[in-house]
Amino acid sequence: MLLPVIMAGGSGSRLWPLSRTLYPKQFLALTSNATMLQETVKRLDGIEHQAPLLICNEEHRFIVAEQLRKGGMDNSGIILEPVGRNTAPAIALAALKAVANDEDPLLLVLAADHVIQDTDAFLVSVQHAKAEAEKGKLVTFGIVPTHPETGYGYIHRGEALNNDAYCVDAFVEKPQLETAKAYVACGEYYWNSGMFLFKASRYIAELEKYAPEILKACQVAMDNSSVDLDFTRLDKKMFMACPDDSIDYAVMEKTQDAVVVPMDANWSDVGSWSALWEVNEKDASGNATRGDVLVENTTNSYIYSQDKLVATVGVEDLVVVETKDAVLVAHKDKVQDVKGIVGQLKQAN
Ligand code: GDD
Ligand code: MG
Repeated sequence: MLLPVIMAGGSGSRLWPLSRTLYPKQFLALTSNATMLQETVKRLDGIEHQAPLLICNEEHRFIVAEQLRKGGMDNSGIILEPVGRNTAPAIALAALKAVANDEDPLLLVLAADHVIQDTDAFLVSVQHAKAEAEKGKLVTFGIVPTHPETGYGYIHRGEALNNDAYCVDAFVEKPQLETAKAYVACGEYYWNSGMFLFKASRYIAELEKYAPEILKACQVAMDNSSVDLDFTRLDKKMFMACPDDSIDYAVMEKTQDAVVVPMDANWSDVGSWSALWEVNEKDASGNATRGDVLVENTTNSYIYSQDKLVATVGVEDLVVVETKDAVLVAHKDKVQDVKGIVGQLKQAN
C-alpha cells in the first residue's frame, strides 16, 4: 500500500511578489494551468496509491481543500499545523496518523512545490524505491547535480545494491560552496530531492532513536487532536512545544538504513525566479513569459504579468514580475536576493 504524503507548509518567499505568506508558491499555477499542488497529485496517476494525505498550515486549509476539489482529487485527510515546525514533525504526524489506522503503509513523501517534467521517469524511480522501502530501508531520491547549489542536501552514494539503488555513504545537508563544488566534481554525489519513501513504522522507529522529543511532541499533539470533516486539527499548545527540525538533519543524516535511488526526471524545486525561467517554455530569444506581455529586442528574460500589460524593450537577463500591488525588476543572476526585499517588508510591518 502506497500512501502519498504531500507537504504543503512552505512559504516560498524567494518567489515574491507572486508568492505571499497567505498564498505561497505551492498554490500557484507557475508552469501550467494547474497549481503546483494539483500537479503533485496528478503526477501520481500512473501508480497505484491511496488518496494522498496532506499537511499544511491551518491558515491554508480552504485553499488546499478547494484546489483538491477543483482538481477532482480525493484525500485521506488534511493535517493542519497551527505553526510550522519543519519537515521532521510534519512527516511524523503523517506517519502517526497512518499507523493509528492499524496500517503500516509505505509513505511516499512529496513536496507540493516541485516541478518534475518527466513524470514517467519519476514513476520508474518510485517503483525502484518501493522494493527497498519494503525491506525496511529509508529511501531518498537523488538528482544528478548540474551545479554546486548550496541550498540542497547532498548524498554520497556508497555500495550499489543493484542497478537502481545505492547505500547512502553520507548525507550532508546544505554544504558550503567549496564543499558543494568538490561534490559536483567528484561525480558520486546526488542532490537530495526532498522526496522520500519508507514504511511509516520505520520512520517512527528512527525518530524514536534520533529525535525522541519530536516524536513525543507529535504523538501528544495527535492524541489530543480533533477531526472535523477532512481536517485533523492538532492541539496547538502541544504542537508548539515540538522542536523545529528537518527530516534531513533529524533522521536522514543519522540513520544507518538510508538508501538512495537516482531520479533523472528533470526535477527542480523552483526555489527562485531564475529556476522558474529554466523550467518554463521559452521563445526563440530565450524569453519565458506569462500573462499579457509584449517583448521587443529582449533576450533570456522571465516576464510575468498578472494585472497589466507588461512590455520590455532592449533588455536581457531580466526578471519582471507584475502583480496587483507590487512589481519586481531584478537581474536574473541576482534573484536569490529577493529574500532581502521580503526581509525589509517584514521589518516594515
Ligand atoms: N507541512 C509542512 N510543515 N510542510 C513543510 C514545513 C512545515 O513545517 N516546512 C517545510 N515544508 C515543506 C515545504 O513546503 C517544501 O515543500 C518541503 O517541505 C521542503 O521544505 P523546504 O523548507 O523547502 O526545504 P529546503 O528547500 O530548505 O530543503 C529541502 O529540500 C531540498 C530540495 O528542494 C531538503 O530536503 C534538502 O536536502 C533538499 O535538497
Ligand atoms: Mg525547498
